[in-house]
Amino acid sequence: MTHWHERWTNQQTGWHRDVYNDLLLKHWPAVGATASSNVLVPLCGKSLDMDWFAQQGHTVTGLELVSRPVEEFFQERELVPEKEEFGDLIRYSASPFVLIQGDLFNVQPSLVQADVWYDRAAMVALPPSMRVAYVRQLLALTKAGAMGLLITFSYPANEMEGPPFSLPDEEVEALFSEHFELECLERITLEDERDRGLSSTHSSVYRIIRR
Ligand SMILES: C[S@@+](CC[C@H](N)C(=O)[O-])C[C@H]1O[C@@H](n2cnc3c(N)ncnc32)[C@H](O)[C@@H]1O
Repeated sequence: MTHWHERWTNQQTGWHRDVYNDLLLKHWPAVGATASSNVLVPLCGKSLDMDWFAQQGHTVTGLELVSRPVEEFFQERELVPEKEEFGDLIRYSASPFVLIQGDLFNVQPSLVQADVWYDRAAMVALPPSMRVAYVRQLLALTKAGAMGLLITFSYPANEMEGPPFSLPDEEVEALFSEHFELECLERITLEDERDRGLSSTHSSVYRIIRR
């Protein structure tokens, strides 16, 4: 069983929120999505933010490794999804949601071509060694000109074993700048993370445009 299967089985899902993400609500207008945009939500869990996208008129494509949150997402909304297998992946769909269950790195571009994307607690959930591949996947699964909103989390890396793994601004810029344009919309010092034993924590919100 992977770390993530254990976390969902044991209900150790401290990242899950019962309210929409306030940084999403504040900054989504800067992304310039239109009502008909398809929003890619990598490492989606069963995030409530997907409901907010649906309320804006967007269709939503979430990618999630573990079947439990995918099944629960639909059950909690009293939706009965159609299921289709694509190799190791299962595509669950009940309009306006498509959730693809399986390893994000196995998702082929023929299955997903999104207009916009949203990363909250996704890139920071992956070990640093997987970041280059993650950015490559974002490139593969989005259309040219696609815009994204990335919310990071950073702290002195020697102070905690992730996840979440510290993702400093310099690394975001180094990883994305070859194929994307970046604009940092906000940088916030987080005061409520001291109980994790971290001396300082920050979040940055980026608008990222695929060239
Ligand atoms: C920290 S949670 C964040 C979930 C969601 N973004 C949120 O804000 O609630 C990370 C999620 O990514 C999923 N995950 C981890 N590795 C993955 C992978 N390789 N492919 C797809 N999902 C993955 C985990 O199962 C978990 O639900």
